[in-house]
Amino acid sequence: FGYVNYLVERSREDILNNLLAGLSRLEYRGYDSAGLTVDGDKPGESYVARQVGKVAELRSLINDSGYDLDRKFMSHVGIAHNRWATHGQPAARNAHPQRSDPASEFLVVHNGIITNYAAVKSILESKGYVFESETDTECIAKLLKYVYDSNHGLDFKKLIELVLRELEGAYAVLVKSVHYPGELIAARKGSPLLIGVKSERKLRVDFVDVEFPEFSVGGDSTDNYAGLSDDDNDVDDRYFPGSAGGMGGAPSISLSKLSLDHPSPAGLLRKSGTLLGDGGLFVPSGGMSDLRHSQSRAFISDDGMPIPTEFFLASDLPAIIEKTKKVIFLEDDDIAHIYDGGLHIHRLRHEEGQSNIRSIQNIEMELAEFKRGGYDHFMLKEIYEQPESIVNTMRGRLNFENHSVKLGGLSNYLTTIRRSRRIVMIACGTSYHSCLAARDLFEELTDIPISVEVASYFIDRKPPLFRDDTCIFVSQSGETADTLVALKYCLERGAMCVGVVNVVGSSLSRLTMCGVHINAGPEIGVASTKAFTSQYVALVMMALLFSEDRLSKLQRRQEIIEGLGTLSAKLSEVLELNDVIEKTAESMKDKTKMLVLGSGYQYATALEGALKIKEISYILAEGILMGELKHGPLALVEKDLPIIMIATKDKLFDLVSSSVSQVTSRLGEPVFITSKNGPRIAEHAKSVADGKNDADAKADYVRFEVPETVDCLQTILNILVLQMLGYWLAVKKGYDPDFPRNLAKAVTTR
Ligand code: G6P
Repeated sequence: FGYVNYLVERSREDILNNLLAGLSRLEYRGYDSAGLTVDGDKPGESYVARQVGKVAELRSLINDSGYDLDRKFMSHVGIAHNRWATHGQPAARNAHPQRSDPASEFLVVHNGIITNYAAVKSILESKGYVFESETDTECIAKLLKYVYDSNHGLDFKKLIELVLRELEGAYAVLVKSVHYPGELIAARKGSPLLIGVKSERKLRVDFVDVEFPEFSVGGDSTDNYAGLSDDDNDVDDRYFPGSAGGMGGAPSISLSKLSLDHPSPAGLLRKSGTLLGDGGLFVPSGGMSDLRHSQSRAFISDDGMPIPTEFFLASDLPAIIEKTKKVIFLEDDDIAHIYDGGLHIHRLRHEEGQSNIRSIQNIEMELAEFKRGGYDHFMLKEIYEQPESIVNTMRGRLNFENHSVKLGGLSNYLTTIRRSRRIVMIACGTSYHSCLAARDLFEELTDIPISVEVASYFIDRKPPLFRDDTCIFVSQSGETADTLVALKYCLERGAMCVGVVNVVGSSLSRLTMCGVHINAGPEIGVASTKAFTSQYVALVMMALLFSEDRLSKLQRRQEIIEGLGTLSAKLSEVLELNDVIEKTAESMKDKTKMLVLGSGYQYATALEGALKIKEISYILAEGILMGELKHGPLALVEKDLPIIMIATKDKLFDLVSSSVSQVTSRLGEPVFITSKNGPRIAEHAKSVADGKNDADAKADYVRFEVPETVDCLQTILNILVLQMLGYWLAVKKGYDPDFPRNLAKAVTTR
């Protein structure tokens, strides 16, 4: 996170509060340690604070530091960071900012991994540099000093260019230096970075050497559920300006209309034409404007005077939205240089076909979407949002009268996709589970062979891939490094690359050829919940769309579309189980291991349910395919081992019954997820146990009854039970489910 104030008077306390508030909002991205730097009292002096633990610990360190908090700054640059340890354990010396030397001439905060850091480090060590941390980031700070000392008179942008050219790997970096007071460099490659702009006066828009940007303004995202069949309300149809291709817009972001004081941009070009540095002068108004390759942009007033401006730089929107809704998403190889209240964006290198446009976007999200509301944890809030979030995924895309699906982002690509020889789904973690969950339906409806791949393993294998393959990349954040590397591999081989993404403007949404935004709204809890159900709904809609030309599937498709229409109400019913799940969690919290069993559609549910339980309650939970029980895992079953059995009614119900018997006859402790009014599988299990005449056979097994829906949609109802169980197990054990140890929400490193 970075904060720059220009001609806006701020006390040191205000600046620190801004930095700490930004960090707090980004805490879900990493929380091993935190740090920041602000200007000291004398010129050339920096204050640096770094601390192991969460932002609150950093705040107390600062409170005890004795800094003069009242000191005023008219213009100032501050940078800050939450760390998720990749290189070097969580320790103050490994927290960021990392410094170039004991005098902290250059200070750097960095997301990502510099893969050639060992080589850079050894060269610098041979030149006398002494490294103080185990981080890869430190080599950036030290390299800056080395290049600075070896080349006199470099401007900040040129210096960073020289340094970045030496680095391999991924980064989003912010750099501050005593040699360039009041200046900030922000650069990205492979890790997200955005800049929020806040200005206190109305600004003018000037265009220099740019085409008038083509853009459209999206529909109203606040339409209610009744609008599901309204074609005009297809939010997915919108083109997302500023992207090279990309997936089309989503309701969470739309662009305000360009407001021009002058009739034509071309006229303006002739009238204004002031140039700054190696680029042009380019001033955004209250709305959106456009930036071309190697153009610079400055914020000035009508009379050409600098105006008070604040910049907020962050790796994700929650840190910014409270301060300003005007945001620029940087792209790979962008170097943003902020000085004298101006923002200048340069390209490190330019590749053919790459977009030259950076838009200032008006973000429509409200801070409330990033707040916990009345809930104790984000995870619980997000669990409870699901009846609504799945509706947002479907909104404007389903027509219940003629049973059709419309996904605007895909409409130009349907023929290619339907003719694919194969569909490959690629993702990580929970997103991988949503792909697994959808595979059966894709196979059934499309008759196209489907493979589902964990992104990291896919990259390791580098399997054969062809131009007539369609690859579907599923990611909540759209920034997962493993998934992005897999995408690059598939793009290079000419495959059709489709995204299913939650975060609008994310790397995945920009780099895929087309796709679907799941529109679940911001997901902050590290354990993914509402993104899973929305991803699954989006994938179901894709399978329905891809098979629209298949008459033989007509009836099945109708059944599923109708099922989707009633799903939200059924999800609300499942939420009513919360109290009983809480009680069950209380009784299960001391267990150290458990199994989660599912078959068919419910196999993915079992895997995802086990992941939820283990990642936040640290209970060793394993998801197992029921058919595989007898081939090994049955050896684990013993008295009192909790075994969660997903036994809702579907065509594999007989197989489920036999697994139940296998478990109960070995005195395992089943916990059932069954269909309301469905076959009484628990009774069946009990009678098997009674038949054994064992004194310990339980009279009543725990049973969570959920409403029945179409077999392929049952996953969405069943997973809710396991999400709640995972949540309550964590809470009962005294853990914070929003911050599971060692994990991060978006893993932007490989
Ligand atoms: C991390 C998160 C998981 C998430 C996975 C994939 O490991 O902790 O919750 O499922 O990344 O993230 P994505 O954003 O690509 O869906």
